[in-house]
Amino acid sequence: MTRVAIVTGGTRGIGEAIALALRDKGYKVAAGYGGDDERAQEFTAATGIPAWKWNVGDHDSCRDAIGKIEKELGPADVLVNNAGITRDATMHKMTYTDWAEVIETNLSSCFNMSSPVFGGMRSRGFGRIVNIGSVNGQAGQYGQVNYAAAKSAIHGFTKALAQEGAGKGVTVNAIAPGYIDTDMVRKVPAHVLDKIVARIPVGRLGQGHEIARGVAFLVADDAGFITGSTLSINGGQHMY
Ligand code: CAA
Ligand code: NAP
Repeated sequence: MTRVAIVTGGTRGIGEAIALALRDKGYKVAAGYGGDDERAQEFTAATGIPAWKWNVGDHDSCRDAIGKIEKELGPADVLVNNAGITRDATMHKMTYTDWAEVIETNLSSCFNMSSPVFGGMRSRGFGRIVNIGSVNGQAGQYGQVNYAAAKSAIHGFTKALAQEGAGKGVTVNAIAPGYIDTDMVRKVPAHVLDKIVARIPVGRLGQGHEIARGVAFLVADDAGFITGSTLSINGGQHMY
């Protein structure tokens, strides 16, 4: 049976690597994105994976997009809540907009996307949801109260929803990546990033495929006993 996987933020960065890894494992993949049409077109041309544009921070848009994807590809077996943004600033400079956009895009998105698919997964007796958190949700980070709050909450969301799916074949897990070489990290000023990388025991940034490997593991059919867990993939930056 061909499983259907929806990957938000699937057209570049970590999400692109996840979409490719799942496609290569035989999933029918739908990649979501928020605004960069040119990148999405390049992605689809290069990979053959269809891309849909909608705002993961908007509940109705998520419901509409999932409806269209499911009509075209079939019911969603796998959901990877990966889309995210940063709006870094210290508290005294952070605006309410910086706070709200990050909470809506990184956290409310998990509700907006899970809510339309969860009932179907439960009634079909199979589902896999993976939420992408962050080392900075686990450890905190200077200049990221908005992002750390959203990512930290993802871990609570994961553990609560996992309990609701456990008896119905639906697992819900999180991955907490460390610093991965994507556009998001490339925006960090070099003098700041150098200091961060110097504190990563493995001695380098991670690569998207190193996160995708964890997602493929968690969504596999034979991963049904893993639920409510957080897999940290961070080069040893934060251990507990
Ligand atoms: N701890 C303590 N002090 C710190 C600090 C830290 N981690 N980082 C900076 N400071 C200090 C600086 O030394 C500086 O002190 P002085 O004024 O005494 O020199 C002061 O704070 C101001 O620092 P900046 O000049 O950097 O301040 P700014 O207002 O220009 O920028 C900032 C603030 C936007 C938060 C900037 O520091 C920054 O971009 N930091 C990176 C934050 C980060 O790691 N973001 C991750 C993005 S990627 C991501 O989030 C993916 C993921 O999940 C891992
Ligand atoms: P990225 O390279 O900036 O890519 C972000 C993706 O999310 C893009 O496809 C983007 O679409 C999409 N997106 C952003 N806002 C959206 C919205 N409102 N609606 C729909 N899609 C939206 O980011 P990344 O580094 O790959 O990060 C992916 C995830 O991993 C994020 O949740 C991030 O917080 C998390 N993470 C990243 C790191 C890291 O070091 N990179 C570490 C830990 C966790 P467009 O292309 O259209 O903008």
